[in-house]
Amino acid sequence: SAARRGASRRASFVVVANRLPVDRVENPDGSQEWRTSPGGLVTAFEPVMRTHRGAWVGWPGSPDDDVEPFVHNDLQLEPVHLSADDVELYYEGFSNGTLWPLYHDVVAPPAYHRDWWDRYVTVNERFAEAAARVADDGGQVWIQDYQLQLVPQLLRQLRPDLKIGFFLHIPFPPTELFQQLPWRSQILQGLLGADLVGFQLPGGAQNFVRLVRQRFSYETRRDRIRTPDGRTVVARAYPIAIDSSSMHDLAMSEETAARAQEIREDLGNPTTIFLGVDRLDYTKGLPERIRAFGELVADGAVDPADAVFLQVATPSRERVEQYRILRDDIDRLVGRINGDTGLLGRPPIIYLHNSYPREEMAAMYRAADVMVVTPLRDGMNLVAKEYVACRDGDNGALVLSEFTGAAKELRQAYLVNPHDIDGLKSTMLAAAGDSSRNKARRMRIMRRHVFDHDIDHWAGQFLDDLGKLGPGSDY
Ligand code: ADP
Ligand code: F6P
Repeated sequence: SAARRGASRRASFVVVANRLPVDRVENPDGSQEWRTSPGGLVTAFEPVMRTHRGAWVGWPGSPDDDVEPFVHNDLQLEPVHLSADDVELYYEGFSNGTLWPLYHDVVAPPAYHRDWWDRYVTVNERFAEAAARVADDGGQVWIQDYQLQLVPQLLRQLRPDLKIGFFLHIPFPPTELFQQLPWRSQILQGLLGADLVGFQLPGGAQNFVRLVRQRFSYETRRDRIRTPDGRTVVARAYPIAIDSSSMHDLAMSEETAARAQEIREDLGNPTTIFLGVDRLDYTKGLPERIRAFGELVADGAVDPADAVFLQVATPSRERVEQYRILRDDIDRLVGRINGDTGLLGRPPIIYLHNSYPREEMAAMYRAADVMVVTPLRDGMNLVAKEYVACRDGDNGALVLSEFTGAAKELRQAYLVNPHDIDGLKSTMLAAAGDSSRNKARRMRIMRRHVFDHDIDHWAGQFLDDLGKLGPGSDY
């Protein structure tokens, strides 16, 4: 195996995230293996760690799993233990039953439970202690995402010598929604432990600064906050990116070309393949897009002998109630549309509830004529950028929700409001039927953007800024 056990080594660069880049999974025969963890954070950070080296502190993905520090594919991994109770209260509860829906514009109702909060505090303390153990004197520690918002302050108390950065991968909500949170002051204070707090969009950074000013009356100037202990905290936007060239190279390989052709044949050689790729999450707008496609087929605007919708959804957070409800809703919706409008051997929707290796994803992107990305709210959405990076030539169209971070950069996408089913239908048709010339022009501009703003550029900007801040700086 690529995994090698080893005692923790101290590192001058440390990333702290809820999950390690790999999950320990048990096969049906009882054997175990490490598999890439789900979600955009890991997609983005794997290449960052390969460039900057250092250690990655995180949870190995299953409850009550005691794993020693180890090296996997050249990355130094430092596991944090979560008990079954921790997973239920901190991860499924406060992180994904409270913060996730609250930060995504309450598209599902957030639940506020004091025992979830208490465990969030305890587990954040554990991550801070792990980071404090691993970080070298004067090192840089980069804490990730909504699960760990208290770690910056807790870590600063333990290790005032460190430069501490924080990046939020999901949206930071409007101030009036954030104020619902019974523990709003503690969360803000937690984040203020960092020297640099990064957000996907400028609006998120501004919301954060405004809240700090309103709640604590700290002095703020544009993106800078002065704390009572005399520190400067900077809050700024860094829209996250992908490893564009490696994604492109993978998509352009002969193997991927052959596999893309095979996928098209397996789907019955349709003229148009529509594609959706998501974690199975209620923020992603899956029912809206499936309903829109189903109506196009029922209306006769799309012929199931000619077009197919391939939807690939990674299983996600399956014990959280809202995710169970969503899964049942999608099963029912897809079943109904295929039953009502399908032809023998030609169901209009092919739905795969599974996750696939990167090679297979690249082949799907390459095969797809229209990529349909319709979140109701999404911090960035890397799938949209991956699709663009995998395209070449004059075909391929991206339908993209206005409510994603990516829509602020990929202005040449066919932009949609996913709540507007008629708009979604007409935009999907327009994207499929647009001229090659138009599609090529749009894709060329987006491709240039995705290549010029890749993950190296992103991490470089954040770390350059962090380097100028913190202990010893006079910023
Ligand atoms: P999120 O972080 O909310 O999951 P993103 O779109 O930013 O959303 O990132 C999702 C990542 O997961 C992308 O890198 C995408 O390629 C990957 N992914 C999504 N669905 C699948 C799947 N079914 N199999 C494998 N990878 C997937
Ligand atoms: O920002 C996206 C994100 O929420 C990450 O924080 C997370 O690791 C990923 O999606 C996948 O979700 P989970 O870790 O809950 O499976």
